[in-house]
Amino acid sequence: MSVPANNDSAQLGASRNAAVLSNYLPAIGTRVVIAADKSLPADADAVLVALIDGEDGLELVAPEAIGSVAEQLLASFEAVSASAKAESVTTIPAPAGLDVDSVTGVGVSEDLDAEDIRRACGAAARRMTKAKVVFNTLGAIDPQAAAEGFALGAYAYSGQKSTEESNEATQKVVVLGADDDVVKRASAIVDAVATARDFVNTASSHLYPETFADAAAALGRDAGLEVEVLDDDALRAGGFGGLNAVGGGSSRGPRLVRLIWKGDESAENSLGLVGKGITFDTGGISLKPGASMENMISDMGGAAAVIATVVLAARLGVSTPVTATVPMAENMPGGKAYRPGDVITQYGGKTIEILNTDAEGRLVLADAIVRACEDKPTHLIDTATLTGAQLVALGERTPGVLGNDEFRDRVAELSQSIGENGWAMPIPVELAEALKSPVADLRNVTNSRFGGMSVAAAYLREFVGEDVEWVHIDVAGPAFNTTGEYGYTPKRGTGVPVRTMFSVIEDLATK
Ligand code: BES
Ligand code: ZN
Ligand code: ZN
Repeated sequence: MSVPANNDSAQLGASRNAAVLSNYLPAIGTRVVIAADKSLPADADAVLVALIDGEDGLELVAPEAIGSVAEQLLASFEAVSASAKAESVTTIPAPAGLDVDSVTGVGVSEDLDAEDIRRACGAAARRMTKAKVVFNTLGAIDPQAAAEGFALGAYAYSGQKSTEESNEATQKVVVLGADDDVVKRASAIVDAVATARDFVNTASSHLYPETFADAAAALGRDAGLEVEVLDDDALRAGGFGGLNAVGGGSSRGPRLVRLIWKGDESAENSLGLVGKGITFDTGGISLKPGASMENMISDMGGAAAVIATVVLAARLGVSTPVTATVPMAENMPGGKAYRPGDVITQYGGKTIEILNTDAEGRLVLADAIVRACEDKPTHLIDTATLTGAQLVALGERTPGVLGNDEFRDRVAELSQSIGENGWAMPIPVELAEALKSPVADLRNVTNSRFGGMSVAAAYLREFVGEDVEWVHIDVAGPAFNTTGEYGYTPKRGTGVPVRTMFSVIEDLATK
């Protein structure tokens, strides 16, 4: 059963979060409007078609969408030696009889699965930014994937350049074969991913705990969520020792934001979400080296993703109750900063010997996990840009998924099915044992360089309530793309793991 969605005044296919975010962030990325049609709309100025390598060479997928000029179109693509290699993009003038300015062909890998379609459409979208109305014929293969892929790929963040034109017209993508349901769903999912990207892309000069909390609260209220925000005074009074210690070195105090989607209160499963919201990670007194430190603006990628995901749950009216608990702090060295050797008390009472102030994410997450478990959710997912070890183990694009075996494997499977490609990893018992401290209940790091992603997960596991199915997703690499764009993934903020967590929410709703 589903509950009424808080999407009433939204124009079908348009971005709802963008309007809210524009009031809080200095800049946001471009959005497209998604629409549906059964044939070429009169106002279209560009058409997107899929090219594959068939038995007799180049072939158009779904030539019927183009009608009588399909053959001529194919000949034109052949004439310019268009490639059908996956994600290869070729644009040619439209043949006579097709009333648009240009036609773009994009190569799709042969099995034409949803991820192939998303990637192809995303790659094409990045090369079709000049078109006002694009007719996307890849919808004939998979309308949902064609809509999502194009709109995800069209996202571009141009930041705060003073020369940028502010009133660029919004692009529309008309997806062949889509219906209102597909349009609504794809629009909401893409808007959520774009929201997470916007937060991650915003400089820490503009996004710090107070402004981040304000923006998250505004989004939550707009989506009809219940909102609670604890400021630094409330966090001190409440005994949130992890947030107080990590946030202590900054002049900008920490926050804890809670966004509550009640869903269907008789639902069997409920989900807690927790996301690391370090708005900038200098390492603190255990200062990081200077090289690439600017990438640490992305250390709130987990927080951005869980905020976007709970808002998405509300926009689409899912039956699963979802509560996001989001710790936000800036990790700075300073006169009031915490130190190696300090002993802190996490929310809930466990004492921690601090050996490295750069292992700060687990400290703010532990407070939030304990708070989240007070609600007694059946399932809990935390996600964080937690360890450099995730990058060492799995590379830049593959999230590490750790936690209770069965739920972990299900989350990894769902993540792979939607193209975010999370991979299950173990928590070896000897790594967990190495977190024992001679002077406190635990210490925040071990002496070993090995298995850092699993050590961090072992730390977090200490704070998960009994009978809660728990998964931790480490997105240190996948949340922030420091190299080139590919498929539907832009540079900088990627929005990972929003779609993984949303798949889990929908999966829990069916049980
Ligand atoms: N935010 C970093 C992890 C990180 C590294 C994210 C690279 C994205 C890219 C985290 O707070 C951190 O510094 N972790 C330390 C932990 C160590 C001190 C145990 C790390 O990974 O080196
Ligand atoms: Zn750190
Ligand atoms: Zn960090």
